[in-house]
Amino acid sequence: MRLAVRGSRVKTGRTQRKDKYMPVALIILAAGQGTRMNSDLPKVLHQIGGAPMFVHALEAGRMLKAERRVLVVGHGAQAVSAAARAYDPDIEIVVQNEQLGTGHAVNAAREVLADFDGDVVVLYGDTPFIRPGTLQAMVDARAEFDVVVLGFEAADPGRYGRLIMDGKNLNAIVEAKDADDAELAVTFCNSGVKMTAGTNLFALLDTIGNDNASGEYYLTDIVAAAAKAGQSATAIACDEAETLGVNSRADLARAEAVFQARARSDAQENGVTLVAPETVFFALDTVIGRDTIVEPNVVFGPGVSVETGATIRSFSHLEGCHVGSGAIVGPYARLRPGAELANDAHIGNFVEIKNSQIGEGTKVNHLSYIGDASVGDGTNIGAGTITCNYDGVMKHRTEIGARAFVGSDTMFIAPVKLGDEAMTATGTVLTRDVPDGALAISRPEFQIKAGVARKLFEKLKAAKAARDKGQ
Ligand code: UD1
Ligand code: MG
Repeated sequence: MRLAVRGSRVKTGRTQRKDKYMPVALIILAAGQGTRMNSDLPKVLHQIGGAPMFVHALEAGRMLKAERRVLVVGHGAQAVSAAARAYDPDIEIVVQNEQLGTGHAVNAAREVLADFDGDVVVLYGDTPFIRPGTLQAMVDARAEFDVVVLGFEAADPGRYGRLIMDGKNLNAIVEAKDADDAELAVTFCNSGVKMTAGTNLFALLDTIGNDNASGEYYLTDIVAAAAKAGQSATAIACDEAETLGVNSRADLARAEAVFQARARSDAQENGVTLVAPETVFFALDTVIGRDTIVEPNVVFGPGVSVETGATIRSFSHLEGCHVGSGAIVGPYARLRPGAELANDAHIGNFVEIKNSQIGEGTKVNHLSYIGDASVGDGTNIGAGTITCNYDGVMKHRTEIGARAFVGSDTMFIAPVKLGDEAMTATGTVLTRDVPDGALAISRPEFQIKAGVARKLFEKLKAAKAARDKGQ
C-alpha cells in the first residue's frame, strides 16, 4: 500500500542556503500509546522535571525558533491536546486516528503544513533530551545535504534502526526487524530526529509503502527514497544519552535522573550554590538567580523563579512562586502557587504561604499559614499566626499593612484588614478591620484560682488508684 494521498514528483530537496534564513517547522510525534508504561495516562503526559515529556521535546525545539509547531496526537488525544495548548497556545494539533507507523504519523501534519515553505524537523514526544547544540549541528548540515538524520553510536543497538553510511553519505535506514546480519552488525543507529524541506518531506512520504516486517509506514524509508531521487542525505552523531527514549516506568525514572543531573549542572554554571546537588530537585522551568544558595533537600516544583542572592534552606518545597532577592526561605518552608516574596523577606520553619504577597523585609518566621493575603513591607508576623481564609465554601482575603506587628497565635478571620503600623495582641482572633496604628486585642477573661490545681491532682490520683485496685 502507498501512503500517497496525491501524486507528486520528488526533485532535489535542498532549499537551504547558508546565506538565507530558512523558516523552521517542528513536528512532534506523540500519538503512540506507550503500552509498556502500563498506565491510563498517555505516555507523553508522564512528567519529567514537573512537565509532560513532550514539552521537553518542544523546549529542545525552541532554539530553532520554529515558526510552526505541530503535535501529532492519537492515544489520549484530548488530554494531550489540552496539556499542549496550556504550554504553547499557538501549537497546531493534528490527530492520527490509527497508529500505522512513524511515516503515517508525519503524514498527518501534511495538510496543516501545506502552505509552509521552509524546513521541517521531526522529533519524538518520548525522546526528551536532544540538546540545542545538536539541533544546530543538524541545521548546519542542512546547508550541504537534502536530508539530515540524527544518529548515535549505540552501546546496545537492539531494536534501533541502523544507519547505512557510505562515508558522509547516508544511503538508507534499515529497521532492526528488516535487517540482515551485516546490517544488524552496524552500531550507528537512528535517533528518530530528521530534517528536510517541508515540501520534500511530504513528497518523499508519497513514495513510501508499508511492505515491511511490521506492516507500518516507516518515516525512516524517506532516506532510501531520497537516495533514489538523487538527493543527498547524511547523519549527524550525538551522544547516546540525548536519544534516551522513555518506554517504561524504569526508563521514566532514568530520564528524571538525567534531567535532574543536567538541571543541577546548569544551575551551578549560572552561579547558584548547591550545597548537596544530588538532593536538590528542579522543574523544567525553574529559574534561579546568581549567588543564591540552595541547601540540601529542596524541591522546586513547576513555576518557580528565585532572584539573586536568596537562600533556600533545607527541606523546603516551592511551586508556582516567586522569591525576591536576598530572601530567606526555610528550613522546612512550603511556598505554594501564587506566593510572592519581595526582596529580603524571611519565611521560616513550618510556614506555608499560598496565593499571597509578602512585603519587603517582612518576616513570617515560625509555624504559620498565610493564604489569600497581602502583607506590607517591614511587618513581623508572630509564631502560629493563621489567615483563616476558607469558610467551607468560599475563600476570602486578608490584608495586613506595612510595619505592623502581629502577635503570636493571631487568627485572621477573613475577609479582614489590619492597618499599617497596627498591632495585634498574642492570641487575638481578628473578626473586624483594624485601622492604621491601632492595637487589636481579644482575650477571654484571665483568672487565677488559688490551690485549685493541687486539689484537682489529688482527686484525679484517687480516681486512678480506685480504678487500678478494681482491675
Ligand atoms: C523508531 C525508528 C527507529 C529508531 C527508534 C529510536 C521508525 C520506523 N523507526 O522506532 O529507526 O531507531 O525510533 O527510538 O521510525 N508514533 C506515532 N504514530 C505511529 C507510530 C509512532 O505518533 O503510528 C510515535 C510514537 O508515539 C513515538 C515515536 O513515534 O513517540 C516513535 O515510535 P516507536 O513506535 O517508538 O518507534 P520505534 O519502533 O522505537
Ligand atoms: Mg520507540
